Amino acid sequence: MKNIRSEIVGCGSYLPERIVSNEELAKRIDTTDEWITSRSGIRQRHIAAEGEFTSDLALNAAQKAVQHADIDPAEIDLLIVATTTPDNTFPATATKVQSRIGMANGAAFDVQAVCSGFIYGLAVADNFIKCGQTKTALVIGAETFSRILDWEDRTTCVLFGDGAGAVVLKGRGEDDDEQPGGNGSGHNIGRGILSTHIHSDGNLYGLLYVDGGPSTTQTVGHVRMNGREVFRHAVNNLAAVVDEALDANGLARSDIDWLVPHQANKRIIDSTAKKLDMPAERVVLTVETHANTSAASIPLALDTAVKDGRVKRGDLLLLEAMGGGLTWGASLVRW
Ligand code: UT7
Repeated sequence: MKNIRSEIVGCGSYLPERIVSNEELAKRIDTTDEWITSRSGIRQRHIAAEGEFTSDLALNAAQKAVQHADIDPAEIDLLIVATTTPDNTFPATATKVQSRIGMANGAAFDVQAVCSGFIYGLAVADNFIKCGQTKTALVIGAETFSRILDWEDRTTCVLFGDGAGAVVLKGRGEDDDEQPGGNGSGHNIGRGILSTHIHSDGNLYGLLYVDGGPSTTQTVGHVRMNGREVFRHAVNNLAAVVDEALDANGLARSDIDWLVPHQANKRIIDSTAKKLDMPAERVVLTVETHANTSAASIPLALDTAVKDGRVKRGDLLLLEAMGGGLTWGASLVRW
């Protein structure tokens, strides 16, 4: 049987129009721009308009990804939306996007792994493609996190924002591989997703959760987080999963051209970059302007660096994330 690899053939992203600065928040709650910036690196966030839903953000990002990939939406046979803030409890937000984007066949469903959702969605789509069940997949990370924040809780509400990002994956025979460019490491590895690695530890459920839901309180609930503990686990788990991804591919830290991390906190990102010996100019950082957009943050960062020309064909990218569950994961991608 021919070995198949998933190639990312297009990406896109969308941010709601309204920008809320730290200064604006400081007028409403007991916080300061200095505290938010020094603890998290965040300066502003985008907030969805009234009547603008997760499916709207997802559709906007998806349409741009489809256009960038130059494909007909009818070709898509798997659509995954990674989200923690679906439009409704059911059906999946993905089915709404399926209908609006003009995807006629295949399956659409949501994946729930909070801030690791995009890596989980990528892993699911990659495995569907590798086993031959899917030819063209659209993986979207989309969130309206502002809707589940307790705007009275200064320890969480200053950290998150709304947005969406998407990628189109296509199955490709490994025999069709070209020589990569990249940093000249000499590895003869073709383009596409080299591997995905996902983990969870449900014992740590209580460190980051929403205190509501259809089965428990019949309300949507609000985000609750033990920030200091989540921070500690993030630094350790991300270091471990990054090494796992490199080992699985026989690659070294120095082979990575770009770190495209989940954007929760600049200090967590700096710590991962330091462990990888990566200079700041090789790290895609969007947390300053996007804040933490949960499942949307990696595809938003990726799209930013692809469209501004930083990420080039053949570059080796490391994507990584950690979030509620706890869940965490990483993926190595040859662009
Ligand atoms: O994406 C999903 C994963 N999530 C994360 O990765 C988030 C991980 N955690 C973090 O990023 C950090 O822990 C935070 C940014 C949430 C907090 O930073 P910290 O350095 O861990 O601060 P802290 O929680 O230890 O709080 C320090 C102080 C506290 O005051 P006391 O108890 O020392 O007097 C807080 O009450 O800062 C206070 N504080 C604030 N002050 C002004 C907490 N929130 C605020 C605020 N403005 N917004």
